[in-house]
Amino acid sequence: MIRYLQLEHYRNYESLELDLSPSIQIFYGKNAQGKTNILESIYFASIGRSHRTQDDSDLISWGKNQARIDLETARFGVPRRLRFNLSRGRSTRIFSNELPIRRSDLIGRLKTVLFSPEDLSLIKGSPNLRRRFLDIELSQASPKYYRDLIDYRHVIDSRNLILKRIREKSSRKLKDMLEVWNEEFVTLATRIVQRRIEAAQRFSTIAAEFHSQISGGEEDLQIKYHIHGARGKIENYEEWISSYIESNRENEIYRGSTEIGAHRDDLRFSINEVNAKNFSSQGQQRTAALSIKLAELEFLNEESGEYPVLLLDDVMSELDSNRRRQLLDFLLKRKIQTLITATDATIFPTESVDAKFEVRSGQIFRNLY
Ligand SMILES: Nc1ncnc2c1ncn2[C@@H]1O[C@H](COP(=O)(O)OP(=O)(O)O)[C@@H](O)[C@H]1O
Ligand SMILES: [Mg+2]
Repeated sequence: MIRYLQLEHYRNYESLELDLSPSIQIFYGKNAQGKTNILESIYFASIGRSHRTQDDSDLISWGKNQARIDLETARFGVPRRLRFNLSRGRSTRIFSNELPIRRSDLIGRLKTVLFSPEDLSLIKGSPNLRRRFLDIELSQASPKYYRDLIDYRHVIDSRNLILKRIREKSSRKLKDMLEVWNEEFVTLATRIVQRRIEAAQRFSTIAAEFHSQISGGEEDLQIKYHIHGARGKIENYEEWISSYIESNRENEIYRGSTEIGAHRDDLRFSINEVNAKNFSSQGQQRTAALSIKLAELEFLNEESGEYPVLLLDDVMSELDSNRRRQLLDFLLKRKIQTLITATDATIFPTESVDAKFEVRSGQIFRNLY
């Protein structure tokens, strides 16, 4: 959980100091005041990237050259400081308890689940969004998965380069190099895909339960991991992918790219056995997206013994008051630290929330009641 957040020259915050409660808190205010910016800074501290931009310098206040995010977190009661120094034109420096750490060592230290309106596109959008969803979850749960993922990307790039070079001019040496990369590729793809299949199964079970509850028992949500290029069930992935690249060697050389593997797979959602991507209504897709986010909370709790911090950006007003109350009860029962943004704070019953903060052009006012 997060105890304390400090921002300096972050987006439209000149300077902010905020004590957070361990339970539910609301950040409300008109549009473009800085509500999402707060959640973004926390997400950044968790994943090492903003969900809205690839370029860290977008996060620095206009006209400034530096920004800082400072957090005090606590894990099983043990406090830790995380600090991020952002500078225009150089990469962000990260400190854990004042000691520098690499970005690749950050993930998993502060676990978060973010749910924003864009998450609707998780079901409708392109496969890379769903792969990214799985990868962020699994990386937060396991640093080893994250390292495998980084290595895997490197292997794909190298392998593709070799394939292209063989296409131009084949040689014994290049073919030997391809063999070496093939071996790495098979090992890493197998580890990654096995983890993902297992996670997808668990997500499916938990999300189905939530979805059924929220939909009044009418809808059966299923999530399945789809292996690109697979026909029917695959018993042994390692054997399957090895023989695939063996028998598709000429094709991959011709295309100069790795045609199958973890970077091409997908998650498939179905509601009552119909593919949700094509047929479900907006409402069903929204319910499904919410169920998946709640499943993420449970998954990370099972993996790490601790609930992640939940960031709900602008999604509560879309739920009817009954579902809203159900969701708040769910969060309270599990003691999940939650930061919620909304334009209207009155939709939240005072007894369910610890604090309401008004956000007004980069300043935050605690609402006493
Ligand atoms: N780098 C930046 N420097 C200063 N202000 C910024 C920067 N990036 C965004 N903003 C401002 O932040 C505000 C948007 O904040 P946001 O948190 O998205 O609003 P909302 O309250 O609607 O969630 C806008 O007023 C925008 O001009
Ligand atoms: Mg916003």
